[in-house]
Amino acid sequence: MKIIKVKDQIEGGREGFKVFKDALADGANVFGLATGSTPISVYDELTNSDVDFSEKTSINLDEYKGLSGDHPQSYRYFMNEHLFNKKPFKMSYVPDGMADAATETARYEKIIADNPVYLQLLGLGQNGHIGFNEPGTPFEMGTHEVALTESTIQANARFFASEAEVPHFAYSMGIASIMKAKEILIIAYGAAKADAVAAMIEGPVTESVPASALQQHANVIVIVDEAAASKLN
Ligand code: F6R
Repeated sequence: MKIIKVKDQIEGGREGFKVFKDALADGANVFGLATGSTPISVYDELTNSDVDFSEKTSINLDEYKGLSGDHPQSYRYFMNEHLFNKKPFKMSYVPDGMADAATETARYEKIIADNPVYLQLLGLGQNGHIGFNEPGTPFEMGTHEVALTESTIQANARFFASEAEVPHFAYSMGIASIMKAKEILIIAYGAAKADAVAAMIEGPVTESVPASALQQHANVIVIVDEAAASKLN
């Protein structure tokens, strides 16, 4: 793993942007994308630049089951707001939260097979999750339906009018789907991520820390600020 230490999220966005530019220069056609707070500064750099994705494809990691793309809390909506409306791609795939699980997970695995991801961008959960793959998820899983944990449901409740509206399920690329990317860029900021960063990079490869699977990938770049890197040896 190549580790890039940055001062803050702004500098992280600039470094992440360079990774995207390098991938474009290498002829990348398909980009795997993530939602959450972490990638926003990379998306800001991309939208403020002249890079052209109009002939490129993007494939997002995950989506809440039961939310349509026009729901403000859907990941499709997030991506439109932060990236696609300003920097259009030829084709942008996000799992369809309104489709049934068997159809959607199979469709999504076919999309990934037909459009091999060159660069996959990831954020990191405090418990080491990537995508919606929580600790204990078998590494060999492809795109699948996930039952959200009670703590995730409660944490998400603040974004919804009431807890009853918070989705209990999601569709997510699995670890096996993520590992197919030629290159992976994972970014983490803040002290709350320090344990997960150390476990991902220096701990044993174990399904208890989903991101530790990345130790088995040949081409991973990690961008961390000082606080997130503070527990590395
Ligand atoms: C987002 C995703 C999640 C986040 C992770 C970190 O599509 O799949 O794994 O990357 O929860 O979230 P933030 O960046 O909000 O700390």
